[in-house]
Amino acid sequence: MRKIAAVIGGGVIGGAWAARFLLNGWDVRVHDPDPEAQRKITEVLGNARRSLPSLSDHVMPTEGTLSFHETIAAAVVDALYIQESVPERIDLKHLTFTAISEACSEDAVIGSSTSSFTPTELSSQQANKSRIMVCHPFNPVYLLPLVEVVGGTTASKNAVERCVSILTEIGMKPLKIKKEILGHIADRLLESVWREGLWLINDGICDTETLDDAIRFGFGLRWAQMGLFETYRIAGGEAGMLHFISQFGPTMKWPLSKLTDVPNLDDALVQKIADQSDAQSDTYSIRELERIRDTNLVGMMRALKAQNWGAGSVLANFDAGVKAAIGCPDMSGLVRTIARTVPLDWLDYNGHMNEARYLQAFGDATDRFMELIGCDADYIAKGGSYFTAETHIRHLDEARAGEVIKIDTQVVLGIGKKMHLFHLMKAEDERVLATAEHMLIHVSLETRKAVPPAPHIEAKLIEVAIAHEVLPVPEGMGRFVGQGR
Ligand SMILES: NC(=O)c1ccc[n+]([C@@H]2O[C@H](COP(=O)([O-])OP(=O)(O)OC[C@H]3O[C@@H](n4cnc5c(N)ncnc54)[C@H](O)[C@@H]3O)[C@@H](O)[C@H]2O)c1
Repeated sequence: MRKIAAVIGGGVIGGAWAARFLLNGWDVRVHDPDPEAQRKITEVLGNARRSLPSLSDHVMPTEGTLSFHETIAAAVVDALYIQESVPERIDLKHLTFTAISEACSEDAVIGSSTSSFTPTELSSQQANKSRIMVCHPFNPVYLLPLVEVVGGTTASKNAVERCVSILTEIGMKPLKIKKEILGHIADRLLESVWREGLWLINDGICDTETLDDAIRFGFGLRWAQMGLFETYRIAGGEAGMLHFISQFGPTMKWPLSKLTDVPNLDDALVQKIADQSDAQSDTYSIRELERIRDTNLVGMMRALKAQNWGAGSVLANFDAGVKAAIGCPDMSGLVRTIARTVPLDWLDYNGHMNEARYLQAFGDATDRFMELIGCDADYIAKGGSYFTAETHIRHLDEARAGEVIKIDTQVVLGIGKKMHLFHLMKAEDERVLATAEHMLIHVSLETRKAVPPAPHIEAKLIEVAIAHEVLPVPEGMGRFVGQGR
């Protein structure tokens, strides 16, 4: 059965919600009275298609179908999940929830993107409050995993759990908030920084560019990976948080910030901020800035994924789920070891996949093959593994960002300590992009010397090698550098 999500309000946030659901294989039905909504969502979708697949080491599911509907009722009628993202006005939210509630199915989950309202406020005019909750995302919703899920005292536990499960399925990190409060958690923190920032501009202490630099060259980098408390714990040295608070606690009484005051946002201050912001960023259009932001986020999140840390652990878990669903492929013929998208950060100055990334993709294929014959993380932790002794790669065609690459692996020789593999990399349209030949030797990680693999691994390798004996000799095997075609 197709999974259907309804997006009510398709602006900055709704459009990005639509993109996240679509790229995760859901059909998305949008209602937005703005005649420009379709064009705007199509542009957001373009940005999402360019960046989101870069985060995974697997191919994304087939994209769902996007449709636009004249009424809220038509959009929500068969939807399992409904996300409200209309402008932040409580009267409009009430009208929208009434229209949704009248038409949606009994067990649909209804999330609101609201940045400030509580579930109690949102559902106050609805007979059935149990399925309405806050699902507050962060821009760009198609890349950033965080969603603050607030059920308050009105949403049912069951509906909140169903919501958490759906949002996890589309690669998000739903954070359940214990109690409802105006602005939830993240926007309250952000507002305190924003408020102080406005004062610093108002008082002429710095301009917008200097203020942004103070964030992005320093604590902004820390926050992306350890947040506030864990960062300060380290700042306390070996004595940790107790020492940090005893050292810096008293300074909280100093007048370091003006958090409770609001600068008067009169015309002069607004113009000052707008002028400084134009001077800071006017060389780029908003669309260009979005693409720069997305490329940077992809790179940072992939770095965190390599460490299985913070937002990166969400990506790693997501990939682990996809891998488990794929399961163990048939190994009697060529073994599909890799099927993935070329991520944005694998490109070089020629606009195609850098040659080092071919080796990475082939190395990943070898790792996957090792895992499939039993040389997995547990086995390696016990002290056995394969080391690559020799590699030969042929670069036959270009691979571009966003393109799907597939690698099939053939065992040329698999006996004793030796494992000779041939990998064939193809594009989605079956163009051959590259081949790689690897000789690997089984080693003891203790002595770093060649030793035979454990019997179960050797047996599996021999079984696959015998099955592959009937396969044709791969074209290009045994070639040397500079050999004529
Ligand atoms: N912009 C952000 O960074 C951000 C972040 C998190 C949450 N939010 C929340 O998301 C919600 C939407 O904000 P946004 O920034 O996307 O606003 P937006 O103005 O970009 O989009 C709102 C959309 O709702 C549409 N709309 C207006 N009336 C409607 C109706 N009756 N039915 C359906 N659609 C209607 C508008 O045409 C517009 O396309 C707000 O609740 C906001 O607090 C915004």
